[in-house]
Amino acid sequence: MNRVETALLNSAPRRWVQRFYETEALLRCGGRLAPGSLALEIGCGSGYGVQLIFDRFGAGSVDAVDLDPAMINRARRRLARYGDRVVLAEGSATDLGDALCAAEDSYDAVFDFGIIHHIPNWRDAVSELTRVLTPGGRFYFEEVTAHALARPTYQRFLEHPTEDRFTAEHFLAELDRHGLALLGSTTRIQGDFLLGVAAKPCPANGGT
Ligand SMILES: C[S@@+](CC[C@H](N)C(=O)[O-])C[C@H]1O[C@@H](n2cnc3c(N)ncnc32)[C@H](O)[C@@H]1O
Repeated sequence: MNRVETALLNSAPRRWVQRFYETEALLRCGGRLAPGSLALEIGCGSGYGVQLIFDRFGAGSVDAVDLDPAMINRARRRLARYGDRVVLAEGSATDLGDALCAAEDSYDAVFDFGIIHHIPNWRDAVSELTRVLTPGGRFYFEEVTAHALARPTYQRFLEHPTEDRFTAEHFLAELDRHGLALLGSTTRIQGDFLLGVAAKPCPANGGT
């Protein structure tokens, strides 16, 4: 991420949108987590999302990963009050085994607040988050599409991978390819943003 985007992400307006718009839309689709749930946030940035995952989604514990050590340091300061209910690690969402020793079927929920569009091999991140979700576990996502990334403001001020960008349809098709089933409908904003929740199927009953 460049300096413009880092400043935007650490701003009060970004926190306001994340709390009052994105969180509310995701809660309408996927609801709160069961008491004591273990959640994972990929690309946690400065840790405000983890705070929301505790306070608004009701997680019992949260693990979080980010590629940028400076972001992990910020998150560590913000989240100190949660003590050992939070584990923060530097590493990639495409290899959670390396970053967090995350085993298969280990998280009740995975949260993606606008990070997968930053990953050049984004399909590997979808595969990896599916691996670590428990059967019946939920994937809460807020994503930025190729349509937004092609806008002049994004092109001029922000930096993103240029290859294999995804539209909302590409992203949803990839979830489907991994067997993740949408819960309810998605929220789309002008073809630029996509929010929704999908669940990993339970093998025992063949559904979610
Ligand atoms: C647009 S920011 C979003 C931060 C935060 N989720 C938020 O909504 O404010 C993207 C974040 O993803 C991180 N990131 C980029 N590629 C990553 C990867 N492969 N694995 C983990 N984090 C990554 C960046 O360092 C950055 O903190």
